[in-house]
Amino acid sequence: MSNEVLYNTQVISFLEELWGDGFLSPGGSDEVDKVLEGINIKDQRVLDIGSGSGACAILLAKNYLAKTVVGIDVEPPVCEAAQARILAAGLSEKISIELVSPGILPFENVSFDVVFSKDSIIHIPDKAALASDVFRLLKPGGHFAASDWLISHGGTPSPEMSEYIKAEGLDFAMASPSEYEEALFKAGFIEIELVNRNPWYSKIAAKELEWLKGSDRQGLSKRYGKEFIDHQIEIWMKLVGVLKSGEHCPHHIRAKKPSES
Ligand SMILES: C[S@@+](CC[C@H](N)C(=O)[O-])C[C@H]1O[C@@H](n2cnc3c(N)ncnc32)[C@H](O)[C@@H]1O
Repeated sequence: MSNEVLYNTQVISFLEELWGDGFLSPGGSDEVDKVLEGINIKDQRVLDIGSGSGACAILLAKNYLAKTVVGIDVEPPVCEAAQARILAAGLSEKISIELVSPGILPFENVSFDVVFSKDSIIHIPDKAALASDVFRLLKPGGHFAASDWLISHGGTPSPEMSEYIKAEGLDFAMASPSEYEEALFKAGFIEIELVNRNPWYSKIAAKELEWLKGSDRQGLSKRYGKEFIDHQIEIWMKLVGVLKSGEHCPHHIRAKKPSES
C-alpha cells in the first residue's frame, strides 16, 4: 500500500453525495440491515473494520443498540469525518474510531461479540490472514457479518475487469467467493454463508451512471471539478460493464465462530 490517501476529502464528499451521509459504499441502511440479517447486535461489543466516515458505526450503535462499537480505519480523513459525525450524533461514549496500520488487528483475543465490515475488505489483500485474525478476536459463538466487492472467479481478471480495477485506482484486492469460503473455513468458522448481490447492485450502478451523466453533471463538475467527474463517469462505465457480465459480484458474507473452540 502506498502512502497516498485514497479516500481524501473530495472523494469522501462525492461518495457521500452519491450514497448518503457518512456512507462510502452503496445501499445505505437497507444494505446494512441485510448484512446483519439474523444476527443479534443489541448489547454486543462490535468491531467495524474499515469504518470510513462513520454511518455504519452510528447505525450499529443507534439503531441496533450495540453496547460498544469500535471502528477502525487506515486513513486520517475518514477517521476525522467519522469522529465529527459521531460527536454530532452524541454517541462518543458508545463509539470509538481508531486510526490503525494495515495488518494484524490491534486487539486482544476474544475482544468482540460481532465483527462487521462494509465494503472495506477489498482493500485487504490477505483474506486468509484476515479471517484467522477475526476468528481470534471473536468470542465463541460470535459472528462475522460483512459485505464486500468480489470477483466471480479465481483466474486472471478479464481485460474489462483489469481496466475497471485500474480506473478505480483504489488499491483493490478482489477475491473470489471460493477464496473467501476457504479462508473462513480454514480459520475455523462454521455456518459460512455467501449471498451474491450482483443482481441488486447491477441495477443500482446503472442508475448511478445515468445520474452522473444526466442533468446534475454540470453541478457535480462545478462542485468537484470537471476532470474528477469525467473520471468518475469513466469508472462507472467500466463498473456497469463488469457488473453486467457478472465478473464483479458484491457479496454478503456471514460466518460463526463455534460456541466450543
Ligand atoms: C469503500 S470504503 C467503506 C467505508 C464504510 N465501511 C462504508 O461502508 O461507508 C472502504 C474503507 O476501508 C478503509 N480501509 C482500507 N484499507 C483498510 C485496512 N487495511 N483496514 C481497515 N480499513 C481499511 C478505507 O480507508 C475506507 O475508509
